[in-house]
Amino acid sequence: MSRYDSFATFYDRVIGDRSDVASLLVRLIRLAAPHARDLLELGCGTGTMLQELSKHYNALGVDNSSAMLALARRKAPKAKVMLADIRSLALGRTFDAVVCPFDTMNHLTRISDWRKVLDTACSHLSPEGAFIFDVNTRAKMERYCDEPVEVTFHRSDFSTVQVTRRSASLYLVDLSLYKHVGGNRYVRRSMRLPERIIPAGEVTRLARGFFRHVTVIDPARRRPSHRSEELFFICSGRR
Ligand SMILES: C[S@@+](CC[C@H](N)C(=O)[O-])C[C@H]1O[C@@H](n2cnc3c(N)ncnc32)[C@H](O)[C@@H]1O
Repeated sequence: MSRYDSFATFYDRVIGDRSDVASLLVRLIRLAAPHARDLLELGCGTGTMLQELSKHYNALGVDNSSAMLALARRKAPKAKVMLADIRSLALGRTFDAVVCPFDTMNHLTRISDWRKVLDTACSHLSPEGAFIFDVNTRAKMERYCDEPVEVTFHRSDFSTVQVTRRSASLYLVDLSLYKHVGGNRYVRRSMRLPERIIPAGEVTRLARGFFRHVTVIDPARRRPSHRSEELFFICSGRR
């Protein structure tokens, strides 16, 4: 059972609207793989990206949480979805674009698992295709660690996000939804996600083991810097 299964129905409310990221992803795919038709999303979750991507591409989403996929089926009915582990996926076909958005790579706490997912992306990508993924950086995790707990109010319920440092490269992200059940009483549902942070240079080196061209983009500034909080990697020219 995936750690996401019991939190799936609360996930979207805690995470909030991310339609801007979906639009950015479509723009990046158009630049990196302008003729793309078939698209694979690794770790598609509740289908937030698939909802937008399936308007433009024949999209397949893969995730290892059946509860997240049940929501994706409803949110993105034009996309296909499949229950599988992205570290060992072997579909026997290729796609013009493969994406792995919203820090799914950071959820893999072993470097060997990053390599396995890069291998999955490489082996499912057509020769002219592009693999696009994003990562959280240490700057972002450190900012969250320094700041007070983030609270978001949703009518009578509220959610919290708290990040704590476990080591120089491992952080724990605690997501909670407090559901109002009457008076001053709330029921809490929580999920703890470990996130592995790998410096951008090392991520590039890992990706270059599978792709000849790797470009790093910080969507919030002109070029990546030590202050970058989220980086997109655009990989092409599979080896
Ligand atoms: C942060 S969510 C991102 C969801 C989606 N990409 C989005 O942008 O909304 C990470 C997703 O990756 C999935 N995931 C994590 N490890 C996985 C694995 N080894 N195989 C398949 N899915 C995995 C989780 O179940 C979760 O749905």
